[in-house]
Amino acid sequence: MQINVNLGERSYGITVERGCLSSVAEYIGEQRRIFVLTDSGVPREYAETVATAKHSMIYTVPEGEGAKSPEVLFQVLGAMLEFNMTRSDAVVAVGGGVVGDLGGFAASVYMRGVDFYNVPTTLLSMVDSSVGGKTAINFSGVKNTVGTFYQPKHVFIDANTLKTLPDRHFSAGACEAVKMAICLDAELFSKIESAGITEDNVEEIITRAIEIKKNIVERDEREGGLRRVLNFGHTLGHGIEAISHGEFYHGECVALGMIPMCAPYVRERLIAVLRALNLPTEYCGDIDAALAPIEHDKKCEGDEVAIIKVEKVGKFTAEKITTHEFKTLIKKGGL
Ligand SMILES: NC(=O)c1ccc[n+]([C@@H]2O[C@H](COP(=O)([O-])OP(=O)(O)OC[C@H]3O[C@@H](n4cnc5c(N)ncnc54)[C@H](O)[C@@H]3O)[C@@H](O)[C@H]2O)c1
Repeated sequence: MQINVNLGERSYGITVERGCLSSVAEYIGEQRRIFVLTDSGVPREYAETVATAKHSMIYTVPEGEGAKSPEVLFQVLGAMLEFNMTRSDAVVAVGGGVVGDLGGFAASVYMRGVDFYNVPTTLLSMVDSSVGGKTAINFSGVKNTVGTFYQPKHVFIDANTLKTLPDRHFSAGACEAVKMAICLDAELFSKIESAGITEDNVEEIITRAIEIKKNIVERDEREGGLRRVLNFGHTLGHGIEAISHGEFYHGECVALGMIPMCAPYVRERLIAVLRALNLPTEYCGDIDAALAPIEHDKKCEGDEVAIIKVEKVGKFTAEKITTHEFKTLIKKGGL
């Protein structure tokens, strides 16, 4: 299956096909230098399958969110320079959203931009972060503060790599597919509600989630308005993530962040789906502390927060409310 993201000269294709990992090197061009970025938690064989060109190297960063830091970014850029990369060479990220965000950012700033290819190997990165061109690192304790919009040249999604993904990470990724479904596609939501996300239907769900995301990105590449729907659940989610110091995964924080933003009947259905996917539906931490970072959030302008609400499955509304109103809404929201 091939999906095209149509963004004029920044257009690219997404291949969703079991086994496609082994065709990445040939697709990119064996003559170029290929810098394969991965992390220590990604099975080594995936990067090795991609790094078969004569001039390729694998660079491994420590696994986890901590790799999205200025220090690691400069180590990566240093390794690219040492590898004598020129502007005609390419960076390939093989891993989850961390490696994709870091590798995309490094590719976008090295010599003012070298080609970037993404090979997502977590469910989260397949359904969400590998598409749309957002790259970032965390800075000064604030998530995704430094980054660029930089579209990949191609994305390769090989669902066979999910076989090694720990269940908890699979669930966290499933949450981003639920997010797209509940805001934009009632049929997809019902499908997940009735069948869950399994080895058998995962490719179909990935494909549908990507189609939803691509339709949004094509209409609003740089998040001027519509694309903000993809931040559903992320304002509170990022707050919980910021204070949880790794206790919760990104997708789990988004799950918690979505719940209070739904009307009661929708919330009931959402909670049932999240529970079936083994995602958290209750937060026992300090909600005031989780709400404190919202002033730094990119969705916050002055004293206003841009929020997304879902009052009917498959339909969302966007509005701006004060940070005080947001905090009240969350506290009343049943978390
Ligand atoms: N750019 C965007 O649009 C966007 C969107 C959503 C999330 N994100 C970012 O994505 C990040 C989260 O991504 P993630 O959930 O993929 O986390 P991650 O990249 O940390 O990967 C999760 C863990 O799984 C391991 N792993 C990866 N693939 C594996 C495989 N196939 N088998 C076994 N282990 C594997 C990794 O080593 C890591 O330990 C966050 O930093 C978030 O901000 C970005």
